[in-house]
Amino acid sequence: MRIRKRSFFWQLFLGFLVVMLAANVGLYFYMVSVIKSYVYNIESRNIMRESLVMATDMANNQRTLAEDESFLKTLAQPLDYRIWLINSNGAVVFDTRPIAGSNISRASLRQALAGAANLTVTTNSRLESFLTVARPVTVRGGSLVLAVNTPISGINSAVRDVEKQLFLGGVLVAIASVLVAFYFTRKLTMPINTLIRGTEQVGVGNYEEIEVLNTNNELQEFSVSFNNMIRRLSRIDEEQKKLDILKSNFLSDLSHELRTPLTTLEAFTEALKDGMVEDEAKKRQYVGALYEETMHLKRLTSDLLQLARIESGHLVVEMAAFDPLEVIRGVVNNRLPAARAKGDRLLLAAGGPVPRILGDRDHFRQIVTNLVNNAIQFTSGGTITVRAGVEGEDLTVSVTDTGIGMEEEAMSYIWTRFFKVDKARARQHQESGLGLSIVKKLVELHHGCVGVESKPGAGSRFYFRIPLTGAATAGALGPDPGDQTAGTD
Ligand SMILES: Nc1ncnc2c1ncn2[C@@H]1O[C@H](COP(=O)(O)OP(=O)(O)O)[C@@H](O)[C@H]1O
Ligand SMILES: [Mg+2]
Repeated sequence: MRIRKRSFFWQLFLGFLVVMLAANVGLYFYMVSVIKSYVYNIESRNIMRESLVMATDMANNQRTLAEDESFLKTLAQPLDYRIWLINSNGAVVFDTRPIAGSNISRASLRQALAGAANLTVTTNSRLESFLTVARPVTVRGGSLVLAVNTPISGINSAVRDVEKQLFLGGVLVAIASVLVAFYFTRKLTMPINTLIRGTEQVGVGNYEEIEVLNTNNELQEFSVSFNNMIRRLSRIDEEQKKLDILKSNFLSDLSHELRTPLTTLEAFTEALKDGMVEDEAKKRQYVGALYEETMHLKRLTSDLLQLARIESGHLVVEMAAFDPLEVIRGVVNNRLPAARAKGDRLLLAAGGPVPRILGDRDHFRQIVTNLVNNAIQFTSGGTITVRAGVEGEDLTVSVTDTGIGMEEEAMSYIWTRFFKVDKARARQHQESGLGLSIVKKLVELHHGCVGVESKPGAGSRFYFRIPLTGAATAGALGPDPGDQTAGTD
């Protein structure tokens, strides 16, 4: 484990330690005081009781003073008591020790004379503590005060013993505290370090999942959601990289598309500019070629613009009810001359009644036009059939031709912009490879799907379906063949 100086680990560990040691020390002093007062209580009770026994014995037996004195003397020795008898004037009548005087306080004496037994704790100049009981006693000679005094050094040494034990226990507890604090802190901070390492990796762009922590707490949840985040981030990162590739591919495709017509334009204008072409027929031919290239560039530009609008979501879709057959009929009539020019028959097959649908009429027209144009382009002396019908909740439209068809492999790429199966032929047809991408995008804008069936040499069938109501229906969208880029080089 890596431990940094000002780390979370040390802060937590020291915090832990301070709390545990403080609790330990507090507990030690508390225990000492509890035990002290416990021992004092026992001792106080003993001295109270024993002095009561003495006083009662003296009162009951009504012995002579000398007899009482020897009675007290025999008790004082084994109990380590010093005993006085004091008369009502405060004069010491009897003392078990030869040292003169008593250290009974005036207040205590007064209380005892008034009939109340009392206990006092005193400390002498050598800091030795004493317990003293003063209680009234009625003997043959009248009322006296029986005072019993005992040093509590014995108690103190007992307390010191306990203190020593407590201290040793405390040291053990302290050591245990350090170990426990270390263990728990480690347990808490290890996972945090794992998380920190994980985020550091994200910081340098490594989207690696971390081990899922089994801490059974929020950190575990955190590690799980962290990994979810990592998965998302790495997906976004991958998508971003793919987008970057798409973008650069798009730019190179586009430059490629622009370069060829521009080169042609340059050559022809150069020839015309210098007046090198004298022949009128040749001049007309050059100008015609210039016009063709210009038209091609214009088409390319408007197709690109439309694709860009769709992709940026800026294309306005004006949903309105219209008759799709009417639009299809219009397209067919419009493209008839072009089809005838190629020796093609262009038919509209009636496939039952078709209701009005909800959609964007202009977009619909463009979809059909692009498909019909392609069919004409890739069919010579054949038949092109446009069909429209209803399947379930969808309008289906298909454009079938008996043209050149295409290979299985090409079918997955044709929806990709700039893709052309045969580039040489595309040049000759002045195509951009954007027509079908636009078809697919427009159909998808209508919550529909597109498809193709084709066989080389036999012809192709392009079809699409869109919901009659213009609303998305479940499953209406087919699998997205994707925006894979297919190299056109
Ligand atoms: N009806 C068709 N028959 C055979 N090939 C087709 C047909 N329609 C499209 N294609 C192929 O798909 C490619 C892409 O079509 P499209 O996106 O319309 O681009 P463009 O028509 O500008 O070449 C065409 O270049 C062609 O190779
Ligand atoms: Mg086309």
